[in-house]
Amino acid sequence: MIESKSELLFERAKKLFPGGVNSPVRAFEPHPFFATSAQGSMMVDVDGKTYVDYCMAYGALLLGHAFPEIMDAVKGQLPKGTLYGVPTELEVEFAEEISKISPCMEMMRFVNSGTEATMHALRVARGYTNRKKIIKFDGCFHGSHDDVLVKAGSGVATFGAPNSLGTSEETTCNTIVLPYNDVGALETVFKSEGSDIAAVILEPVLANVGLILPGKEFLSSLRKITTEKGAILIFDEIVTGFRLALGGAQEHFGIKPDMATLGKVLGGGFPLAAFGGKKEIIQNVSPVGKVYQAGTFSGNPISVTAGIAIIKYLAHNKEVIYPKLEKNTLKLKNALTD
Ligand SMILES: Cc1ncc(COP(=O)(O)O)c(C=O)c1O
Repeated sequence: MIESKSELLFERAKKLFPGGVNSPVRAFEPHPFFATSAQGSMMVDVDGKTYVDYCMAYGALLLGHAFPEIMDAVKGQLPKGTLYGVPTELEVEFAEEISKISPCMEMMRFVNSGTEATMHALRVARGYTNRKKIIKFDGCFHGSHDDVLVKAGSGVATFGAPNSLGTSEETTCNTIVLPYNDVGALETVFKSEGSDIAAVILEPVLANVGLILPGKEFLSSLRKITTEKGAILIFDEIVTGFRLALGGAQEHFGIKPDMATLGKVLGGGFPLAAFGGKKEIIQNVSPVGKVYQAGTFSGNPISVTAGIAIIKYLAHNKEVIYPKLEKNTLKLKNALTD
């Protein structure tokens, strides 16, 4: 017997969406709860139940739900229009700020999701190097496009699929999967296939299979080998960006990749992501270069306004926020361990 509004909605949703959801990780047993509102750390569902939200939209909401500075900024922009189809000063201001925070991002493109960001980053790396293969690491999740849906973590691991059906072998055969933190495996592959490898993409802290820190030498070896062999090192900072430090893993570990992808926190709860890197590489993107990339909603003024609001807030309050984040994480970790 159906007892709650969430159950009722789930029955309706299952007829419309695979598994009743619009992203697989939202499907959990016995049924997901359907949210109506959220504020700070709390979320309320259609049945009026209140939850402490430890998930925060899978990392997108660094400062909690409906953070006042972000809400006010977006309310200010809404009456001025939501999408122009031409550039805005907001985009320029935002990109300048990001460049200052993440020095590897000399040039960039705004997109709408992390998946788009990594997909385009890899295309640019291939276009720039004129090589086909990429290296990713077992358990790293870089979104749901064909190149990286091989031994990915996150929902893919949860649902027990090493690879997704529907991705062609012709595509995935160009993705080499190596064990995370294994410098020896990296050296072996570069020895035999180095001249074919366009890029190495990784989560600099592996967040999509629990949490795995990079070993002491791993990131520096990666930096060294990719430089020697002319492959592009891409840090997927969609989780670590603005979280591990304001300048992400690049700042935390003091290692500068050739390219990076940002997302989640970047949009302050609105859809926004970015890929970028050295000017020499990114200027190969259309319309200047021959690597095609485009998007109707890319850099839309609502997401960018929210992004500016959160990143400025984080930058102005970083001395307080990052130590607090670390302290709270430790508290949670210790309690869970106990
Ligand atoms: C490290 C990493 N990269 C890329 C993505 C894909 O981002 P999106 O879900 O915005 O497409 C995710 C999503 O969880 C992620 O954790």
